[in-house]
Amino acid sequence: MIVALNNKSNLTKEEFIKYLEELSTINTKHKMILCPSSINISLFNLDNISLGAQNASNNVAGAHTGEINSKQLKSYNVDYCLVGHSERREEQHITSQDTNKKIRLLIDDNITPILCVGETKEQRIHNNYKAVIKEEILTAIEGLSDKEVEKIIIAYEPIYSIGTGIIPSNEEIIEVLNIIKSILPTNKILYGGSANEDNIDTLKEIDEIDGFLLGGLSLKVDKLKLFLEKI
Ligand code: 13P
Repeated sequence: MIVALNNKSNLTKEEFIKYLEELSTINTKHKMILCPSSINISLFNLDNISLGAQNASNNVAGAHTGEINSKQLKSYNVDYCLVGHSERREEQHITSQDTNKKIRLLIDDNITPILCVGETKEQRIHNNYKAVIKEEILTAIEGLSDKEVEKIIIAYEPIYSIGTGIIPSNEEIIEVLNIIKSILPTNKILYGGSANEDNIDTLKEIDEIDGFLLGGLSLKVDKLKLFLEKI
């Protein structure tokens, strides 16, 4: 399984250095990817875990104040990058067209995009979640070759599950994973949203899941170790 850790906007320099020491003690058969806050990327020094970023610029190098482009990420040995996380869609107004530009540049720089998709509670209640997921994927992969599309990892994160402790039923998750598979039959798919060491026994019954994208749990290494033992 793939286990990607999204630290979000957490950990000061000192906290991150201590955190890396804790992570270095993880011994697991699973493929681990750490996506630290951008400012901590240059401190990463582990060889049991791959390095990811939480965002990349829509643009190549140039006059784009505050942006970090994919070539810069690659020069810091970043091999994976989250794209279209719901927190960025909401807070930074990232669109699916933006995710398409980012994915194009990341693939050109040999970084594997982890495309986050997911619906709000309202979209689920109004039964347009299927259309939302399809749009988020189809727009993001526009103009890419089949071979390029195959490289993308999808993370299904129902927005109402992120940080809330609320997890959809396995049937609800499987339904969405099958929608994703109807468009992208061979891509790896992660589940994200309040996954933890307590609910993993239920989540791991879902055969269609290839791994997990963890937010809160990424910061609690003891509990993360329990989680890794259970999958
Ligand atoms: P939580 O695991 O804290 O719900 O966050 C999930 C997430 O957004 C990972 O990208």
